[in-house]
Amino acid sequence: MLKITYMGHSAVLLSDGTHEVAIDPFLTGNPLASAKPEDISPKFIVLSHGHGDHLGDTIELAKKNDAMVIATYELANYCSNNGVGKVHHMNTGGSFTFPFGKVTLTVAFHSSSTPDGRYMGDPNGLIIEMGGKTLYHAGDTALFSDMKLIGESRTIDVMLVPAGDNFTMGVDEAAKAVAFVKPKMAVPIHYNTFPVIEINPDDFLKKLPSDVEGKILKPGDRLEL
Ligand code: NI
Ligand code: MN
Repeated sequence: MLKITYMGHSAVLLSDGTHEVAIDPFLTGNPLASAKPEDISPKFIVLSHGHGDHLGDTIELAKKNDAMVIATYELANYCSNNGVGKVHHMNTGGSFTFPFGKVTLTVAFHSSSTPDGRYMGDPNGLIIEMGGKTLYHAGDTALFSDMKLIGESRTIDVMLVPAGDNFTMGVDEAAKAVAFVKPKMAVPIHYNTFPVIEINPDDFLKKLPSDVEGKILKPGDRLEL
């Protein structure tokens, strides 16, 4: 069983009933956030890249909960240098099995720096196998045809796909990304947080392949797989 709570923008909380894992916990300063940092207590935080709308409250959350930050090499170092006690360095293409499940960092076409402008290595998409299910959080990315490889070698139960345009794919490309990956379910993320990424998520649903279930999650909604 895998519970997925959407916290707004790209922030997600995963639970298998035993472990809690946060992805890109941007809560403070996120006008759509359904939770405050003090409302959640993840023991693991997985990051797609260093931008402020993804790193978010990671450092404070990790310190308060003695949580492990899992991220690409440069970003894990940054967290460690800022007082996070437990970090796990990874890099694109690698997988590692943690107590909650397996994390694989995939390619994402984007950039990555900290809010203060420091280079943070490559951005990533995240594949997380947890509670018997497989989730693909595409991070911030452009459309690329090698997404096909992600769905070829495994079954993706749910794909979280950025669709807000301007910084990432818009609805047309996001729907095409879903067609490449062929997940069972697709959920749009990274939209309507700010005026520049306003879209109508129904436009995304309409463009999905007919054999993929599209789902719009409002901040605070929880999906149980
Ligand atoms: Ni970004
Ligand atoms: Mn972003």
